[in-house]
Amino acid sequence: MKDRYNREINYLRISVTDRCNLRCVYCMPAEGITYKQPKDILSFEQIYKIVKASVSLGIEKIRITGGEPLVRKDLPLLIAQLKSIEGLKEICLTTNGVYLGEYARALKKAGVDRINISLDSLIPEKFQRITRGGSLETVLTGIDSALAAGFPSLKINMVLLNNFNTNEILDFAKLTKGKPLEVRFIEYMPTGLHGFCGDGFNVNYSSYEEVFFSAQEVKDICASLGELMPIESDKAATAKTFKIKGFLGSVGFISAISKPFCASCNKLRLTSDGRLRNCLHSAKSIDFKKASDGAEEALSALIKDAVYLKPQSHNLSDFSVKEKGLSLTPVGIDTENFSMCQIGG
Ligand code: 5AD
Ligand code: SF4
Repeated sequence: MKDRYNREINYLRISVTDRCNLRCVYCMPAEGITYKQPKDILSFEQIYKIVKASVSLGIEKIRITGGEPLVRKDLPLLIAQLKSIEGLKEICLTTNGVYLGEYARALKKAGVDRINISLDSLIPEKFQRITRGGSLETVLTGIDSALAAGFPSLKINMVLLNNFNTNEILDFAKLTKGKPLEVRFIEYMPTGLHGFCGDGFNVNYSSYEEVFFSAQEVKDICASLGELMPIESDKAATAKTFKIKGFLGSVGFISAISKPFCASCNKLRLTSDGRLRNCLHSAKSIDFKKASDGAEEALSALIKDAVYLKPQSHNLSDFSVKEKGLSLTPVGIDTENFSMCQIGG
């Protein structure tokens, strides 16, 4: 499927729940969000029908996200069902890793091809603080379980928060020395930081400018570990990936803010309550829930609409980074409608 800007749309991200067993400061307020009612969440059957219609139109890769996807009951069952759809080339999963120890084997067996794990600090107290209570050890065990379950490599997503975890960049990069991991450093997008003043960690942000840390700076830091050898990736890849000379894994840099990749965006996103978003940063979405009980033709028509209406680019660069003193919750983005836990990143 081509959109109006000649982009090939072949990737669908599916949030299977808005619930999460963590409360990351950039994602959720401490008290959590008002969760959707179970009746409003897409059933496995509805998700299957939407994916089937999407694949017929050219979607080749899907990613299961949340909230935390592994809190959705019987997730491996859904994955096994989706795996049977002819033409679907890849099923990926993004998880916080807490339940990986428990589920890694079942996920492999059900047909998950790749797993991304969100991990923002390698220091237990700091990890606990940023996730508001999570256990680093559980996630690290989960990572090893996934490798042991036969996933040949894993991606680790680290969101850069200036002066909070940016002193850990080398430690993250070193994770790739002896393990087949791809550590990806992600520029923080202004989605609202909820009550984050890192007492004990000397962070008290008052503007977006203070939070932001660029992927380029990370790259320079990583270069001190050895020559960065570029790895070819496909055009739509959001990360620029490199192997540090002599290391087993790789490092990736995602410059969502400093170098937006809208021009090669290939994604659609489905929220857990069945709304299709054609851009992460657009407040507009199309309701698929009702249609997903009907005939495939109706769904196909809606998918085509979503692709047709996909905007050329997000408006985040209006908040362009270092120059302006930006607020943590900038006006202009519909932050109320923009909780990562509802869209799934
Ligand atoms: N900026 C950048 N990345 C984010 N994520 C969640 N919120 C943000 C944000 N504001 C990341 C998570 C996860 C992925 C789905 O998106 O850490 O790895
Ligand atoms: Fe949960 Fe992920 Fe949001 Fe953290 S970032 S609260 S792990 S959904």
